[in-house]
Amino acid sequence: MHEVKTQIKAEPWMDVMSAIYGRRAIRRYTSEVPDHLTIERLIDVAIQAPSAMNRQPWAFAVIEGSEILKSFSDRAKAYLPDAPEGNIFHDAPALVIICAISAERQAAEDCCLAAQNFMLAAYAAGLATCPIGFSRFWLEQPATKKEIGIAEDHMPIFPIALGFPDEQPQSHGRRAAEIVWY
Ligand SMILES: Cc1cc2nc3c(=O)[nH]c(=O)nc-3n(C[C@H](O)[C@H](O)[C@H](O)COP(=O)(O)O)c2cc1C
Repeated sequence: MHEVKTQIKAEPWMDVMSAIYGRRAIRRYTSEVPDHLTIERLIDVAIQAPSAMNRQPWAFAVIEGSEILKSFSDRAKAYLPDAPEGNIFHDAPALVIICAISAERQAAEDCCLAAQNFMLAAYAAGLATCPIGFSRFWLEQPATKKEIGIAEDHMPIFPIALGFPDEQPQSHGRRAAEIVWY
């Protein structure tokens, strides 16, 4: 990631522990739009994730534009019995959907590992993300998949809102890990 052309911050990059502890789900975005090169670099980081038998069973769909996402939010909310107030995509300028390209066991886990790479790298690079589980019911509809170019046999697993942060939320903390056995 040496490209100065991208919006990714120049080296030195954040160390992995700082990224893990510092990343937050961001629900307020600036109007700055991540450029294609930046999104592609983040996807390249995502696919460095491990996968079962190195199958790399993922594909990525990118939706750009906060206005279109706003209209998608209205449609997605129709599939939620307890829809939240407002835009489920938090007015982010882009959504990256990590899809499993096979129904094989562990493909979904592999996609989630790619998602965590993506979110940590985005944070380290000065961008912001939020997983949008609320959009999955809508994304899984065959008509939605067709509309946004996701193949019939691919499964949307992990939708991630992407943009630049307009807030710096504190961590809500974590419960102590339950360690059941040494
Ligand atoms: C699978 C998954 C689905 C999520 N779905 C949503 C969502 O639909 N909307 C949202 O605002 N946050 C969503 N989140 C974000 C969580 O609420 C957030 O990660 C959690 O509160 C911890 O906060 P942190 O990420 O800032 O540490 C989701 C997180 C995960 C892992």
